[in-house]
Amino acid sequence: MDKPVDTVLEAPPAAPFVDHAVHAARRLDAAAEAKRHDAGARVGISRAHESAHLHVAGAATYVDDIAEVDGTLHAALGLSPIAHGRLKAIDVARLRAQPGVVAVLTAADIPGVNDCGPIVHDDPILADRELKYLGQPVFAVIATDRDLARRAAALAKDVIDAEPLPPVLTAREAHAARQYVVPPMQLARGDAHAAIAAAPHRLQGSFSLGGQEQFYLEGQISYAVPQEDRTLLVHCSTQHPSEMQRVVAHALGWHAHQVQVQCRRMGGGFGGKESQSALFACVAAVAAVTLQRPVKLRLDRDDDFLVTGRRHGFEFDWDVGFDDDGRLLGVDMTLIANAGCSADLSPPVMTRALCHVDNAYWLPHVDLRGYCAKTNTQSNTAFRGFGGPQGALAIEMILDSVARSLGRDPLDVRRANFYGVGERHVTPYDQVVEDNVIADLVARLAAQCDYAGRRAEIAAFNAASPVLKRGLALTPVKFGISFNVAHYNQAGALVHVYTDGSILVNHGGTEMGQGLNTKVAQVVAHELGVGFERVRVTATDTHKVANTSATAASTGSDLNGKAAQDAARRIRERLAALVAAKHGVEPASVRFANDFVEAGGVRVPFEEVVHEAYVARVQLWSDGFYATPGLHWDRERLKGRPFFYFAYGAAASEVVVDTLTGESKLLRTDVLHDVGTSLNPAVDIGQIEGAFIQGMGWLTMEELVWHPKTGMLMTHAPSTYKIPTANDCPPVFNVQLYDNANAADSIHRSKAVGEPPLLLAFSVLLAIRDAVSAVGGHRVDPPLRAPATPEAVLDAIDAVRAATA
Ligand code: MTE
Ligand code: MOS
Repeated sequence: MDKPVDTVLEAPPAAPFVDHAVHAARRLDAAAEAKRHDAGARVGISRAHESAHLHVAGAATYVDDIAEVDGTLHAALGLSPIAHGRLKAIDVARLRAQPGVVAVLTAADIPGVNDCGPIVHDDPILADRELKYLGQPVFAVIATDRDLARRAAALAKDVIDAEPLPPVLTAREAHAARQYVVPPMQLARGDAHAAIAAAPHRLQGSFSLGGQEQFYLEGQISYAVPQEDRTLLVHCSTQHPSEMQRVVAHALGWHAHQVQVQCRRMGGGFGGKESQSALFACVAAVAAVTLQRPVKLRLDRDDDFLVTGRRHGFEFDWDVGFDDDGRLLGVDMTLIANAGCSADLSPPVMTRALCHVDNAYWLPHVDLRGYCAKTNTQSNTAFRGFGGPQGALAIEMILDSVARSLGRDPLDVRRANFYGVGERHVTPYDQVVEDNVIADLVARLAAQCDYAGRRAEIAAFNAASPVLKRGLALTPVKFGISFNVAHYNQAGALVHVYTDGSILVNHGGTEMGQGLNTKVAQVVAHELGVGFERVRVTATDTHKVANTSATAASTGSDLNGKAAQDAARRIRERLAALVAAKHGVEPASVRFANDFVEAGGVRVPFEEVVHEAYVARVQLWSDGFYATPGLHWDRERLKGRPFFYFAYGAAASEVVVDTLTGESKLLRTDVLHDVGTSLNPAVDIGQIEGAFIQGMGWLTMEELVWHPKTGMLMTHAPSTYKIPTANDCPPVFNVQLYDNANAADSIHRSKAVGEPPLLLAFSVLLAIRDAVSAVGGHRVDPPLRAPATPEAVLDAIDAVRAATA
């Protein structure tokens, strides 16, 4: 007999999942780190996040915490009440007459260009003529306080006069109508069709994958404060201050040097504040400049959901040919992304999706076609992984189906397909995989988590359990690091050493909780041989480092770490030259460590050397710059070397599914992940855990539902959109770093960690699929869609039962 569902699904975990003492001992080698630290190293050491003490005390300043300037006004957005239509008129007089309203802005009031699209100019700041989705900003109300502004803006459906047009709400519909935001893309190698036709086995299928809301805790916000002589300061929660500077200047018809954008930190970005912070920055800026008053625009959570886009949902249709071992010989795939109403970042998202269909596998013949479907919904954008997770999940679903059709263990089929050596290590986009560690990494994880033993236990459990079914899956990750557009891979930094020996760092990256500033401070401390306490990192500011790239594609510490190292190194070299001359030794022999400078047997405190240098008129500050070497990319053919290196990882997850309710519960996850030589193991493990749980939320519980007729996003608040909580973390969650110095010359041979571990969550979806498959004795392929909500699981179970009845 099965145990009652409640006791299995709700039973308290056998071991508390947040036993920090146990985990810290297991995951972090504190003794080794202490030894490194005593020897003078400041990287490779676990340090608390630079703002941790502020975060926990509620003392970290986010944009809404900045003291408001006297006379600050508040903006709210009036949103389109329909998904598609022709905008005829707005009753501005009625809005102006509302209590507290100071001004109303429409498209006509934008002095410069009414566009904030990052790549294609198809993103009006305020709707002009056409209404493209339900929730699109049509006007802005500026009032004396936020509540009054919102009350007036809520009259949108009464004051907007529009002629409705039929909306296109799904990617499939748009694809059928050949309606795209950018031309279709294709990534091909060899002859997929011939390979499939000639293969011993052939399988076809479709897979539907939902999108995901970024759900940053701090919503979108901008606060624009006019300064003297036609200049403006914008405090903006953004991953891309330079882009905000550019679009604000365009909206105002100004030059970039008139606009200063600052961001000390974000309460999460996850890609949602890369391009999509622009609209709010522009509205606040135009209002502030028009009224010559400070204007703040902070979105309510529901409006944030309704106005901004998120991770693209994808539809996949695939056709593959393979041999008796499950080796893929030909892969043909159509990828249809719901781009929403405009291009936004859909082109690079689709490019990354296409470039991650291979994941960890050698695919000799491929024909992959990507379509960015144009629909009357929010414009979708970057979200942790940037399309990579969508593309890679498709191949994982396929290999799972291939394994089932051959009656083999999916892990064996995965292994048979891994990138190897010779021609078997060239990606479909022609980059050679030079640093492949996936076979070894997976072998270690499989041994550590006793994959084979547990596979047998689960089979025995399922044989005796008609209602509850367990499932297990181990999935690999290979993720390319760099922006696909080569010129984005550059960064700048400024390092100031003050005469008391304290150090201030500024760089082009932004802090969104990921610990970038902590890592950059460590790099600078390491370079100058001083304690962490001496180094402070300041707000990202377009007046300090110019023309920065977005903090995105996980490249933040790779790029800005190198730039800051360059700046610090220049200062160190100047100090070394001074000290070396004094002692008559070679500059290279001067040693900087543990707050001392040592030369010719003499050890002098760092601050004394600094003071001497100041008196000797040596420049004690420097800029630094970095550009990732060796990248090239042919956008038309999707060929080249887009990535500096790859990050690897793997996860094994075990779930239990209640086949009566469709509920699933994650019981255990083991992760082995490659962050190269970690700059900060504690921060990296935090990123891995966070990304895994965020990915699990995407694939199992976060469901977006648009009303099929009106196009209203029905799931626009936490009441209807379920993100994972601490209770959803697996009771057993083992995360380990794979010891593997980066083969590429990255900052201290570390690897980017921000996005790749999100893909580890594939193991949860595939474990659920394995459990569902057990219902039919693993004889038929469960048509499980994602997110695998209880409804989706029940639908798949029904289909499996029907097929095996
Ligand atoms: N971690 C936290 N806490 N908050 C975030 O918003 N964003 C992720 C990841 N980790 C994010 C995060 C995304 S989408 C990216 S691209 C990287 O961090 C960006 O930072 P990095 O390049 O410095 O890793
Ligand atoms: Mo991350 S999606 O590249 O901001």
